[in-house]
Amino acid sequence: ARHFVSLNNYNENDIMSLIKKALAYKHNLSVPKYKGMYAVNCFFEESTRTHKSFEMAEKKLGMDVLDFQPSMSSVRKGESLYDTVLTLQSLGIDLMVIRHSDVAYYNQLIDSESITCSIVNGGDGAGQHPSQSLLDLMTIYEEFGTFKGVKVAIAGDILHSRVARSNMQILKKLGAELFFSGPEEFVGTECQTYGEYRSIDELVDQVDVVMLLRVQRERHIQQASHELDVSYLAQYGLTKEREYRMHRKAIIMHPAPVNRGIEITDELVECDRSRIVRQMENGVFARMAIIDSILN
Ligand code: CP
Repeated sequence: ARHFVSLNNYNENDIMSLIKKALAYKHNLSVPKYKGMYAVNCFFEESTRTHKSFEMAEKKLGMDVLDFQPSMSSVRKGESLYDTVLTLQSLGIDLMVIRHSDVAYYNQLIDSESITCSIVNGGDGAGQHPSQSLLDLMTIYEEFGTFKGVKVAIAGDILHSRVARSNMQILKKLGAELFFSGPEEFVGTECQTYGEYRSIDELVDQVDVVMLLRVQRERHIQQASHELDVSYLAQYGLTKEREYRMHRKAIIMHPAPVNRGIEITDELVECDRSRIVRQMENGVFARMAIIDSILN
């Protein structure tokens, strides 16, 4: 594929070859060099990890990276996303990583014959976050060596989470067993096709992975204040008491940024079984694999 916008069309072999490539880069296999190729990362929504790890991945692959800040660009004068991409492409850009608040913003780009540069989805509204999903898969595979039968609890603000959507779809395809947890108004109905709903107390001693999600305050039109303070942690989050009940080899994941003390107790963010920092490290290698797979 020339673009990387969702994992919907990826089968098990495609995913495994991306994960193996990412792991090989992590373990110092020589990396291909894309000297003379240009990337630009266009983030219309805030980001630290995705933006900077794509930039790191591009630089490790020898690409030149141009800076682009929508708030200082002609987007502010009303230039459309399509015209922005057409413009950057005409300057000689080969790869554009885009994060945008519109779900499936990329369709107008990849369906156009005029857009010839590669488009990578860095997150589309509450739609998909496929590069996060790949780094999550890499982290789970690194830990368990398989997806088949691995029990994963996805807990928290599932309804607003593009990470949850991407992960539930691909993890199910790869043979993981899924469970969901969180406040009813944050869980929605989509996940019912992929697994069972349980309370966090029923799940913590049953699963291999507790994947917590950030409460996405910015996507909530209305929010009950009780949901965002310590009572959220007590009812739906990962407390020390719950962590104590997890299997010896079970791990904690979170795509971050973390609301410490809301989805998870502060001290657990960097505890032994937490893979939250490793997820961020793996993100660079997963993104190198993505870029290589579409430019190669
Ligand atoms: N996990 C994630 O997408 O983080 P950023 O919003 O900081 O990129």
